[in-house]
Amino acid sequence: MNNLANCPFVIVGASGDLTYRLLMPAIFRLRELGQWNSPVIGYSPDKWDDNQFREHVGEGLRQFVPEFTAQRWSDFSALLHFHQGELTRSDFSTLQRTVGDGSAVIYLALPPALFGTAAQALAEAGLNRAPDGFRRLVVEKPFGHDLASAQTLRQALHEGWQEDQIYRIDHFLGKETAQNLLVFRLTNRFLASMWDAEHIRSVQITYAETLGLEGRWRYYEHAGALRDMLQNHLMQLFTLVAMDPPGTWSADSLHNHKTEVLRAVRPFKDVDHNAVRGQYVGGTVAGKTVAGYREEPHIDPGSTTETFAALKLTVDNWRWQGTPFYLRSGKRLAEDYAEVAIELKEVPRGLFGEGHKNWLVFRMKPDETIDMVVWAKEPGLALKTRRRILSTPYRREHEMEYSAYEQLLLAVLQGDRTPFPRYDEVEEAWRIVDPVLKAWSQGDPETYPAGSQGPHGQTHLMALHGGWRRLGETDQDS
Ligand code: BG6
Repeated sequence: MNNLANCPFVIVGASGDLTYRLLMPAIFRLRELGQWNSPVIGYSPDKWDDNQFREHVGEGLRQFVPEFTAQRWSDFSALLHFHQGELTRSDFSTLQRTVGDGSAVIYLALPPALFGTAAQALAEAGLNRAPDGFRRLVVEKPFGHDLASAQTLRQALHEGWQEDQIYRIDHFLGKETAQNLLVFRLTNRFLASMWDAEHIRSVQITYAETLGLEGRWRYYEHAGALRDMLQNHLMQLFTLVAMDPPGTWSADSLHNHKTEVLRAVRPFKDVDHNAVRGQYVGGTVAGKTVAGYREEPHIDPGSTTETFAALKLTVDNWRWQGTPFYLRSGKRLAEDYAEVAIELKEVPRGLFGEGHKNWLVFRMKPDETIDMVVWAKEPGLALKTRRRILSTPYRREHEMEYSAYEQLLLAVLQGDRTPFPRYDEVEEAWRIVDPVLKAWSQGDPETYPAGSQGPHGQTHLMALHGGWRRLGETDQDS
């Protein structure tokens, strides 16, 4: 159990969906696991008292936490308090008096447009400093909707808060496979000497979803797949694969190396040859007929929002000269399938035939596994080869699964900044996608049927490579 019994965890925006669906279930589970001791102060303009707030939270937990029981609830609910207020300096001053002089974490569970205003008002009310402890501010993606707005947001946050007080949540960095990418690559000697363009032909990072909008039209229609998934989540996975190994394990060293490789990504001049967008039309997903994006409720029938995006990144540094990185993600695709797949070059001379390609695959969905595609002799009288898969599930059966939010909330309390992107990483990622956003502000995305592999155009990105790996087709022995 962390000993932060006196460190309130304030959620500004306590009656919103994020608090209800994700934050409270994560905090409840951490409490169950003996990892959470901090009082939670819900803050919002609702005219609630502690009990009404507790009822609201309890209702969500019953829905989202399978192991919820009344007995566990009474212990947990005692941690919950409510403070009514607006995002103003005077209301936050009252909150500051409740919080006192000690440590506190303040989580902005608010629409992104309010981050700057809230952060400034909190600072003006003195919530950004504590004579007897720390103050931390947590914000959730999206961090801006393009480079200029990300810079404006950074300035607004930095007016009252130091960078090392700010924790930016990109929940992918709380996923086990994301964390394992670093651990696996930086602890296995045999990988160290092959982690470069001399040995790696390409890298494919895929995050495919069967889900559609799930009622998030208001946000998604203005975001699209590039902003929603590639600029942040997939770009972060890219940095973990592509960065140079840091000299020491510290947040600053890690962020320096991640930023450096983002800076090395060549600016897009010719967007058409390096980026592909698509939008789903009606089709069948898992046996169910589903509507096209433009037919979804509330969506403009002429919408050009992309529901699929793919990028080819070229990295101009010594390590990756000549190795492309392909990133793609989309909604209403054939499968829930996600992986980081490293394609190795073939041996310089094939003594036993050609086409012996090795892959190292970090699969995230449908299961978390680490797979290596290798070649071995087929038993028998001839020197014939066959493909074998060395596969290990990431987790043993009895091992506990922590959600990304559980991992990250705990990291905030512990002051571990490694899994939170620094402002310069965020801005470099916007610098990379900005020209694509500009190019895509005109014209229409290619269409693809819901339930398919995505738009045909994605194959052109792979002109020099063997093509995308098929969604849902895990590697098999031959
Ligand atoms: C979110 C996106 O950040 O990540 C969603 O806004 C997406 O559109 C989600 O579905 C995917 O993450 P996960 O962890 O739910 O698979």
